[in-house]
Amino acid sequence: MDKFVIEGGHRLSGKVAVAGSKNSLLALIPAVLLAPGIYRIHNAPNLRDVWTFSRLFGSMGVHAELNNNELFLDSTTITSFEAPYEHVKKMRASIYALGPLLARHGQAKISLPGGCAFGPRPVDLHLKGMERLGAVIELDGGYINAKAERLHGAKFNFDISSVGATVNMLLAASLAKGTTLLTNAAVEPEVTALARMLVKMGAKIDGIGTTTLEIEGVDDLKPVDETNIPDRIEAATLLIAAAMTRGKITMTNVNPYHMTNVLAKLEEVGCTIDVTGETIELEMNDAPQPAHITTTPYPGFPTDVQAQWTSLMCLANGTSRTTDTIYTTRFGYVPELVRMGASIDIVDNSAIVQGGKPLKAATVMSSDLRASACLVLAALVAEGKTDVLRIYHLDRGYEKLEHRLTALGANIKRVHTEEF
Ligand code: EPZ
Repeated sequence: MDKFVIEGGHRLSGKVAVAGSKNSLLALIPAVLLAPGIYRIHNAPNLRDVWTFSRLFGSMGVHAELNNNELFLDSTTITSFEAPYEHVKKMRASIYALGPLLARHGQAKISLPGGCAFGPRPVDLHLKGMERLGAVIELDGGYINAKAERLHGAKFNFDISSVGATVNMLLAASLAKGTTLLTNAAVEPEVTALARMLVKMGAKIDGIGTTTLEIEGVDDLKPVDETNIPDRIEAATLLIAAAMTRGKITMTNVNPYHMTNVLAKLEEVGCTIDVTGETIELEMNDAPQPAHITTTPYPGFPTDVQAQWTSLMCLANGTSRTTDTIYTTRFGYVPELVRMGASIDIVDNSAIVQGGKPLKAATVMSSDLRASACLVLAALVAEGKTDVLRIYHLDRGYEKLEHRLTALGANIKRVHTEEF
């Protein structure tokens, strides 16, 4: 078990490159089940979630190797159509195997995902969508047992915008017989990245980047090489870290168009931001102004950045509100920030921050991936040395974060510990 020991008070400055997107890569990997062969995905981040996912697909017969941020995948021989609980319990995205297994092999046995630290995360839209495409689905013993002679095109409207369900339906519809019309589809960059890869593989998809996707199923697809998009959530996290330390950083390998809402809010609270191509420069010389954010599906403020934003608002002199409309209980980090001296109340699906009180070092515990990031950010400005426990959460979604923060001037050490 590892923890971070972080000495607060060091200003972040210098240059940092953003890693490839975790959530985009997790959407691209299942596509290899649609066409046998060799795939190379460049700009693949070296993350726990990527290794976990690769082991899951390895159990189905896919050979995966990750070297120097290139993911090599060989799906020539698929030997299993099952995503067992041992893998799914670690990775909700394992359900992405459902669509492609049904589309190409006519069967799938996928463990139902558990909940997670910030509440239940149902998969009803995934199941309803597959049934609309002709799958027969039975739930038994915590597993989804799905069968289909051959999926057929259909119209399907997402009752709510869902990244994962849109990913699953895109994967399934690509090989379904006939045309599928998806409405109220998610438009997150990760969905668009998958759609573009599927088109490169030979899929016929119209409306990419919009909430209406029309997919004309084909009989066969082919393996391709692809380059993963930058991680907009990691980028937002690093920009907020720089803002909190009143620093000045130059961020490269980023797509600013994927984070316009976050950039606008950072400017609103006083950051100076310059965007040039794939580079973002941020400078902050004062405490942030208080500001309210409400998370909504893309291109709104991302729910995956709300915890980090709340850390920033602890430094603002005044009252701020963070509201999450996507995961209404995603506030597990709040009691930990309060232990560091923050004044935050949770009211319904909002965290109300009375900012401006100095944060002080404490031993704090990560509860999920983005909560751990928020605690690391708070520790960067807290007085004294903070221990952030259960860093395995952080390792799911941030590659070598301590090395990159150290390169920017932070005092952060990874320490092995028996503390749990
Ligand atoms: C993806 O999760 C991301 N994960 C999450 O990032 C992110 O928080 C989330 O999208 C929202 O942006 C990956 O991409 C691997 P959803 P996903 O389906 O697909 C409800 C991180 O930190 N819903 O868009 O699971 C759901 O409960 C992770 O990197 C249903 O009701 O999210 C939620 O309220 C955490 N039924 C809303 O929709 C369903 O069948 C949006 O969820 C599916 C979802």
